Amino acid sequence: MGNNRTFTMIKPDAFAKGNTGAIIQKITNSGFKIVALKLTKLSPERAAEFYAIHKDKSFYNNLIEFMISGPIIAAVLEKKNAVDDFRALIGATNPEDAAEGTIRNLYATNVTNNAIHGSDSDENAAIEIAFHFKEEEIVTY
Ligand code: PPS
Repeated sequence: MGNNRTFTMIKPDAFAKGNTGAIIQKITNSGFKIVALKLTKLSPERAAEFYAIHKDKSFYNNLIEFMISGPIIAAVLEKKNAVDDFRALIGATNPEDAAEGTIRNLYATNVTNNAIHGSDSDENAAIEIAFHFKEEEIVTY
């Protein structure tokens, strides 16, 4: 079976703390191939669109405020079983529940400032990749 793709964002907390390099190293050491990568900052409108599915959740305003608070790193990753393997690598949403050695266990502060995003299904990965990258920005190698 060939590789498939997932989408990730290194969130503003992890970027601001200077953890981008360590997180990218952990991602590539875990067998993920980076095929697109950018530094960007979400506008309130773009963040609201990206997280529209959560707009009725109690944490929605916190989430948007946090995600627009500073730069993020957006990336497309390839690996066999990319979505599930990446969710395992990043750990539970709340770092208190994240398994030892996962990215959120190592770098997240709390359930809001939780260092990293990973797509939760192949379908959402495709939507999120298209939201952040044009097809020609994704490199084949
Ligand atoms: S849910 O209810 O299961 O759909 O939520 P979940 O998948 O755990 O989280 C969806 C995104 O919301 C973020 N989140 C929060 N942000 C701020 N405060 C609180 N309490 C909170 N709980 C969850 C969570 O990190 C998810 O963001 P992404 O970018 O997908 O990681």
